Amino acid sequence: MKYNVLLLGSGGREHALAWKISKSPLLGNFYALPGNPGINSLARGVEGSVGDFNLILETVEKNDIDVVVCGPEDPLVEGLKDFLLQSVKPGKELLFVGPGKDGARLEGSKDFAKEFMARHGIPTAAYRTFTAGQKDEAMEFLRSLRPPYVIKADGLAAGKGVVISPDMAEAESALDSIFGGRFGKAGAKVVIEEYLDGVEVSYFVLTDGHGWLLLPEAKDYKRIWDGDKGPNTGGMGSVSPVPFCDKEFTEKVTERIIRPTVLGLESEGMDYRGFIFFGLMNCGGDPYVIEYNVRMGDPETESVMPRIGSDLLQHMVAAARGNLSGERMEILPESAVTCIIVSGGYPGKYGKGYPISGLENIGDITVFNAGTAVKDGSLVTSGGRVLALTALGDSLESARGKVYSKVDGVRFEGAFHRSDIALDMIRWPGRK
Ligand code: AMP
Ligand code: GLY
Repeated sequence: MKYNVLLLGSGGREHALAWKISKSPLLGNFYALPGNPGINSLARGVEGSVGDFNLILETVEKNDIDVVVCGPEDPLVEGLKDFLLQSVKPGKELLFVGPGKDGARLEGSKDFAKEFMARHGIPTAAYRTFTAGQKDEAMEFLRSLRPPYVIKADGLAAGKGVVISPDMAEAESALDSIFGGRFGKAGAKVVIEEYLDGVEVSYFVLTDGHGWLLLPEAKDYKRIWDGDKGPNTGGMGSVSPVPFCDKEFTEKVTERIIRPTVLGLESEGMDYRGFIFFGLMNCGGDPYVIEYNVRMGDPETESVMPRIGSDLLQHMVAAARGNLSGERMEILPESAVTCIIVSGGYPGKYGKGYPISGLENIGDITVFNAGTAVKDGSLVTSGGRVLALTALGDSLESARGKVYSKVDGVRFEGAFHRSDIALDMIRWPGRK
C-alpha cells in the first residue's frame, strides 16, 4: 500500500521531514501546507495557514490523504488532531502523527508538564506556579531560591517565554512584565523554578501510546554568536550524536524519563501517538527535564533525519495506528553537523527578499530551506533563519569540516552564521 501524505509546516524542520519522507517506498502523493520552496520541490504546496483547520480538512478530503504529519506545535495544542478525526468521513482511516489536545498540554502548559512530572516521579527542577494575583507569594518563593532565577510564562510563547535573571531586581521586573502581558495570555500564570546547571541535550521518541522508538539525540545552539553569547534565536546549528550521550546516560534517560513519560501518558488515558521531544539538562551525568515539546526540534531535525537509516514514514504509520511493536529504528553511525545561515540583524530586525546564490556547488551537503521564497523565478530570503546546511561524516570533525568548507560559498546580502558549531562537542572531555 502507498500512503498519500500531508505535511504541515514551512520551516527547516519540515524540509528535513519532507526530505526523509520522500525517500520512502511507501509514499504515494505528497502534499505540504504551506511548505516552502525546498519542501515544495518534493511535495505539492497548498497555500494557506496551519491554523486554518477547515482548509486542512478540505485538503485531506480533496486529495484522499491517508497520513497527516504535523511539524509545529500550535495546531496540536489547539486540537487539530481531535478536529480532523471527528470531521473526516466515517469509514476513512486517517492517520495523524502528533498528539491530541490532551497530550499536547505537555508543551502547551508548563504548569501541566510540571505537575505531570511530579505525578510520575520524573526528574525536573523544583518549581511553583503563581497567578497574577500572587506576586507577593512569587517574590517570597524567589527569595527562597539561589540565583540565577528562572521565570517562565505558562503557555506557548514561540520559544521566548523564559527569562533567566541574575539577581532579584531583574527577576522582579521580569515577573511584573510577564504578569503585565509581555507574553499575552501565555503569561496569565508563571512557573518559577530552580536553576539547573549543566549541558543541554535533546532526546526524541516516536510513540504509539505504549511503546516507542528512540531517534538519534541532538544538541542545538541557541545563541546568536560564537561561544553561546548574545540573544536567543530559533537555533543556529545542531549536531548529532552528542558525545556524552553514551549507553549509560541514554539508559538513565530511558528509565528515569522516557519510560515514565510514555507510561504516564498511557495511564492517564491520553493515547499519545507522535513525537515527544525531551529537552534535557545533563547535570553531572544525571538527566533532568527542562521541557517537553510535542513535535520534533528545529534545528535538531536537520541533524537527526540524515542519521535515520530505516523508513520513517513506515514508523510514523505504525505509531499513528497504535502499533509500533514490529518496528525497529535504524540509526546510522555517521555524525551530522548543521549550520544555519541567518539574515543580518536576526534575531532582531532584518531585511527580506535578498537573492540567494552559490547553492549549485554544494557537493554532498544537504540544504534545507527555512526562510526562503521564490521571487521572479529565483530563490530569495524571506525569514530570519534562511537555510540549514547539513553534512554527514565519519566523525563530528569531518562533518564539521565539510559544512564549513561550503558555508561561505552560499551568499546573500547580510548572510551570517556561527563559526563554532560542534566545536564544544568535539572538545568534550573523555570523548572516544
Ligand atoms: P524552555 O523554553 O523551557 O526550553 O527554556 C528555554 C531555555 O531556557 C532552555 O533551553 C534553557 O537553556 C533555559 N532554561 C529553562 N529552564 C531552565 C532551568 N530550570 N535551569 C537552567 N536553564 C533553564
Ligand atoms: N530547538 C528547540 C526547539 O525546537 O524548540
